Amino acid sequence: MKPIVAVVADLCLDILFTGEVIPIYGQVEQYVDDYHIELGGSAGIFASQFTKLGGSVDLYGVIGNDFFGRFLKERLQELNISTRYVTSSKSYKTAVGLGLAKGNDRAMLTYKGSFNGVTANGIMESGILQKASHLHIASYFLLEQLQAFWLEELPILKAKGITISLDTNWSPEEDWHKVHAILPYIDVFIPNEEEALRISGKADVEQAGSWLSHFGGWVVIKQGEKGATVFNGSSGQHFTIPESLSKGLKIADTTGAGDNFDAGFLYAWLKRASLKECVNLAMRCGTGSLSAIGGIEGQIQLP
Ligand SMILES: Nc1ncnc2c1ncn2[C@@H]1O[C@H](COP(=O)(O)OP(=O)(O)O)[C@@H](O)[C@H]1O
Ligand SMILES: [Mg+2]
Repeated sequence: MKPIVAVVADLCLDILFTGEVIPIYGQVEQYVDDYHIELGGSAGIFASQFTKLGGSVDLYGVIGNDFFGRFLKERLQELNISTRYVTSSKSYKTAVGLGLAKGNDRAMLTYKGSFNGVTANGIMESGILQKASHLHIASYFLLEQLQAFWLEELPILKAKGITISLDTNWSPEEDWHKVHAILPYIDVFIPNEEEALRISGKADVEQAGSWLSHFGGWVVIKQGEKGATVFNGSSGQHFTIPESLSKGLKIADTTGAGDNFDAGFLYAWLKRASLKECVNLAMRCGTGSLSAIGGIEGQIQLP
């Protein structure tokens, strides 16, 4: 039977404006070149890529009872992600991420809204965890109201034989050490380099990876254009991006590269593929998403 991966989502609408423009206060009006609206949030991007690879995902998330919420629900359905576990709340407006992209850089403004509606009770009542054979935690710091719940629930899930992966993503509050408590329950930890250094408090990737892998799981540190380094209880094995992927690569936008990498790695890992195959599929997914704006459009589809 195919493994069912459960994700608890930071569902939000991403609006990205692009152009060589810096906002100016004082009511100055300026034109931008283009805009893009897409399903955002790490877990939604992950779920979409995992589904396109042929995997089964159950996604729990909360949207507002509003126009953006309905857009997200429709978009999830278009992407073949079931909205069975997506709840519409009257208490919150749908979360929105507003990005202003200029060249390779961007400013991001986030309205948390419906993120706050994601609760431990809601997850338990939904029944999503009962069906799962694997849990992927995609936004440990952003959904901070769940941190105590994960600490209580992960040992129970582990005892049932469910495997668990984690991509913390960035900590807006910079309270990096908080995640240490759940690391012993994580089978695959997939931070980016900056996150790995901050969480471990170490000065370089080799030290960070070896410290993090002492908790027992695989540690996969994503390093953007430098590739990735994987630790499994010992020293790291570095993987550069194969030339077949990097040659002629045009980067439209880096949104979601890490989430798509996670989807590729875990899809292969759950199939018990070799480490090399796991990294290879991860990199195909990570680089694929760079070619288009937003985290979804450039995703690769396996037949
Ligand atoms: N500039 C880039 N050039 C080539 N590949 C990239 C680039 N940025 C990201 N990738 C691919 O996406 C993966 C994840 O990107 P990274 O930026 O490290 O993660 P995150 O998005 O979580 O910060 C990388 O390991 C790599 O495979
Ligand atoms: Mg990331």
